[in-house]
Order: sequence, then C-alpha cells, then structure tokens
Amino acid sequence: MCGIIGYVGKQKAKPILMEGLKRLEYRGYDSAGLAVLDKAKVKSVRAVGMVVELEKKIAKLDLKGQVGVAHTRWATHGKPSVANSHPHTDCKNKIAVVHNGIIENYLELKKRLSRRGHKFKSETDTEVIVHLIEEERRKVNDLFEAVQRVLPKLVGAYGIAVISEADPDMIVIAKKGSPLLFGVGDDEYIVSSDAAAIISYTKQVVYLNDGEVAKITPKGYQVVEIGQGEVEKESVKISWTQESAQKSGFKHYMLKEIHEQPQAIESAIRGRVDKFIKEGSQTPILGGLAPTKEIRDRLAKIKRIIIVSCGTSYYSGLVGEYMIEEYAGIPVEVETASEFRYRRPVIDENTAILAISQSGETADTLEAIREGKLKGALSLGVVNVVGSTIARETDAGVYNHAGPEIGVASTKAFTSQISILTLITLSLGRQRQMSFVMGKRIAEELKRIPGLVKKTLKKEAEIKKIAKKYGKYDNWLYLGRKYNFPIAMEGALKLKEISYAHAEGYAAGEMKHGPIAMIDSNFPSLFIIPSDSVYEKVVSGVEEIKARGGKVLAIATEGNKEIAKLADDVIYIPKTLEMLTPLLSVVPLQLLAYHIGVSRGYDVDKPRNLAKSVTVE
Ligand code: AGP
Ligand code: GLU
Repeated sequence: MCGIIGYVGKQKAKPILMEGLKRLEYRGYDSAGLAVLDKAKVKSVRAVGMVVELEKKIAKLDLKGQVGVAHTRWATHGKPSVANSHPHTDCKNKIAVVHNGIIENYLELKKRLSRRGHKFKSETDTEVIVHLIEEERRKVNDLFEAVQRVLPKLVGAYGIAVISEADPDMIVIAKKGSPLLFGVGDDEYIVSSDAAAIISYTKQVVYLNDGEVAKITPKGYQVVEIGQGEVEKESVKISWTQESAQKSGFKHYMLKEIHEQPQAIESAIRGRVDKFIKEGSQTPILGGLAPTKEIRDRLAKIKRIIIVSCGTSYYSGLVGEYMIEEYAGIPVEVETASEFRYRRPVIDENTAILAISQSGETADTLEAIREGKLKGALSLGVVNVVGSTIARETDAGVYNHAGPEIGVASTKAFTSQISILTLITLSLGRQRQMSFVMGKRIAEELKRIPGLVKKTLKKEAEIKKIAKKYGKYDNWLYLGRKYNFPIAMEGALKLKEISYAHAEGYAAGEMKHGPIAMIDSNFPSLFIIPSDSVYEKVVSGVEEIKARGGKVLAIATEGNKEIAKLADDVIYIPKTLEMLTPLLSVVPLQLLAYHIGVSRGYDVDKPRNLAKSVTVE
C-alpha cells in the first residue's frame, strides 16, 4: 500500500525521516506523519496532503531524537484526515506505530479493546495494533517481545514499525504481506517499505520475510520468525538506481503494475470470501456495499442496474454486466458516463447506478452518478482511491485496495475491478436465486485466479517475441465474444494508448457485418478464444479471416491444439470458469501493448495527450 520510514542511530532522525518520505512520494498518498523519541518522549506530527504540509508543521520543531518512524498513507479504512494519519499512538501516547496494509479483523479487535477501556482516536484499522502493543508491553520486558505477542492476533496484511518511550533506543518492525526491509549503516539503520527510500544512504539491506519480526538498535539487529525462534539474516547489496528502485526493478510503472496484479486481486478478495467458503456464511463480506439496514434492504429490491464509467473502467463494467445478468438475474446496462448524462435515463427507486472508477475523480462518471441520484437511484461505487469524490458521493460501495496505480494505462485496477464485480455478483446473486454451492464454486475459483495470473505472467518472454513480430503493424482488429468481447475492447485500448497503433475492439460476431472488409496481410486480427461456450462460433471467425489472407494471433486455453493449426501465433492462458477468463485473457494483451509501445520508443508510463485522471468533462 504506502510508505514506511524508520531510523535508529547516531544522527537526528527527523531529517532522515523527511528525506525518506520525499523519496516515497512517487507512490501516491493522501497524508503523512512522523514520530520521534525526543528526550525519551514520543513526539508525533501529522498532516493531510503532501509531505510539504508535514514539513511546514515540523519546521518550527527542534526534534533532536535519534529514533523515529514516519509514514505516507494510502487510506484504506477511514478517510484522509489528520486523525487517521499515521503514526498512531496508544492511550498514553508512549508508543507509536506506522503500518502498511489492512487488518481485516480490526472491528472485532477494536470492540474488545474499547470494552477494556482503550480510547480510540481514529477510524483506521491500524490503531488497534498500537493498543494491543500497549497491553502486551505491560506484561513483558521489552517492545520486541510485546510485538511478537500481538502479531498472531492480527488477520490481514501488515508491514509495521514501532517505537516506544519504554524502549528508547529501539525500533521493532514486522512483516506479513506488505514489503519491509532495513538498510545497514555504521551503528545506524534505516527502515523502509521500499528500497527506493533508502538506497541513497546504503545499498546494504536486509529484507524481512512474512512472519518475521526484527528488533533494531544502534548496536545491531535481531530477527525472529513468529513461533519458530531466531533467524540469521544476511544483508544483501542492491544494485538498483534510485529510479529503478521506485519501480521495484521494473523498467516502467506500467510493467510493475501488470506484475502486481496477483497481489491486487488478492487484496480485492482478502477477507471478503473466506468465511463464505470455509464457514458457509450467506454471502461474501462486502461491508461497504450495505453499510446500513436501509441500504441492504434497498439492494435486495433492486430490479435494474446501470453501470456508468469511462475507458478501461467502462470495459470492466461490460464484464460485470454479463456476470450480474447471468448469475444474479438482474438486468444491467452499461453506459459511458459521458453519454449517460445527456440521455433521459428511465430511473426509479428500484434502480441502482454503479460507478466504476480507479481514481474516483473522473468528471464524467461523477456527473453521471449525480444525475442518477437526482432521479432517485441507489448510488454505488467501485473505487480504488479511498475518500475520493465518487467514493464520498455514492450511497455505498466497495474499495479495490489495489494500492496506487501510477501508470496512465490502467492495468491492475482493471483486474481488481473485475474481481470486485465478481464479489458483487455473488452478493447480489445469493440474495436472489444463486445457490450456495454455485456461489462457493465461483468464490473458490476466484481465489485461484492470482496463481493463474502469475502463471500467465510467466509467458512474458514469449509475448515479447510476438510483440517484436507484430509490432510493425499499425492496424489491428481485436475480437472476442461474450465475457471476452469487453476484453477485446480493453486490449485494443491498451494498444492504442501505449503504442499509438490503431486497434479496434469488436464483438467477434460483428466482424462479418463490415470490418472484415479491411482485412489483408498487413492488418492482423487478435482473437480472444478461450475454450468456452462460444468457442465454436469464434473459431469460424478465425477461419474467415485466414481465408482472406489475414494474420491471426490467438489467446486460447492451454491444451487447445486445434487453434494452433489455424492461427499464426497462439498465447495460451490457463483454464478457469468462463466468467473469470477475462482476468486471465487481458494479461497477454497488457504485455503485448507494453512491449510494442516500448519497442516503438514511447513513454509507456505517460503516453502523449493522456492524463491519469480525467477530471474535466
Ligand atoms: C485506461 O488505461 C485509461 N487510463 C482511461 O481510459 C481510464 O480508464 C479512464 O479515464 C477512467 O478512469 P477512472 O477509472 O479513474 O475513472
Ligand atoms: N490500512 C491503513 C490505513 O488505512 C494503512 C493504509 C496504508 O497502507 O497506507 O490507514
């Protein structure tokens, strides 16, 4: 999610923490803060907005302490505000914690802690950690022991760094599901969630693994694996430059985010289907979708859904349309938000209008939501940026938790959106005709998808070769049917916006109604043709193109040998449920667009004429 910095050593912590926060700014965030042990007192300062706002607040403070922690927040629980910014402190402000990730069981922990008299100062999930440490610290000798006793109580993902007045020369850090490392200096150490923030100090680093906890003092460090005892951790030398470190060693943010999709899908699912699968609970847990009984009751009565979105988010909406109609039995229409606003949409209180938006700030989508609300619709959102305008103006919704998406071309947000739409389909379907068995089958397969995406990403070298072979073409047809018709359009959009080639996404069945006239040997067609309910129909389209001398690149299900005899090239994807194939078939299309764009020498992270968030109509 976002950024952690910590320091312990012989220098003043404040300037090192601030420099580290600045090096983390590239990740995107909404607020920042730091805490320093100054004259053995925890002094913390926090600010909403950019790091410069924090800088203004601490400029007047002469914080001399040599131990401290700092954080840039990407809100997941609780809007961006000073109170919700990190570090979070215990009841007596003697312990300070910064945290990356999500504590899924925070509500039950918060209830128990409150019953035991703890006073909470924020809406975040993070704050439960520091109160739990406060309790355990009273029982043991040091902070290191206390943290080790707390971590098994937490469900979810975390990277944390903790300081405490009772342990004045120590930082304790711990990792599970969210990156954390520390740089080794001369009797000084710098902690971070991201190598980019520390390599200007040292390139000698120690990476923590999941389940490990480290105690760091100026004299050295000790690492234990929870429940297993001490582990020897050698430091390694990283060779990255500052810039490549920000991209985790990938050449571009776009490529990094394509490869982050397994984690993004896991984050979309995390804590939302496990009880449904393991304990047979009625539906997936989508707290934000039904925050009140009134909204839950309205959702149960919804007779129609209008999805409004733009660009890539519009295409994920089209996948959602197929899912919700097929598995929840609710009529859905998907409208480009810019068109929806100027129609006279027929809306009543049994209509839900669902906005899909990574940024949560797209002006067309925002105005479409406002139009729907004005006419009495229940407004819902699938949004990645917590506290964004669309998130705040909709009645209910589901956050992606995909983390910052920096590349202008949307990739991990897209597969995260489809994952969330699957959960919404299950939730709505289970309130209607969907059986528990059907729902469980879909949820279990959805949990397999991150592994299948990882398997598909392993084909990158093969896809790069195909990009080299086809990169010279300036005109393409992308074709797919049913669940993969939207993927044909999304894949075409990726190629357009990254390589500036002209690609048209089309329903495969529409090809014979005109576009096939364009086909010749310089006009390749890409078919998304998994082994699904419409496979035979799409195969005939492949044959029609081949019969007219067109080249065909196919995205097909592994094991299908027939298609290899027909197409010029095939990229295979793993088998999964038909409704989930978009989560796999889009990955080769993202990589193809990326490698063609790179081969053409374009700035794939910032394509010409485009903005990451279109906040104008
Ligand atoms: C997709 O790669 C583009 N960046 C663009 O189409 C984008 O999806 C569209 O502008 C919608 O943005 P949003 O999801 O932030 O609303
Ligand atoms: N879940 C925590 C919060 O919302 C941490 C978010 C992050 O990783 O920045 O404050």
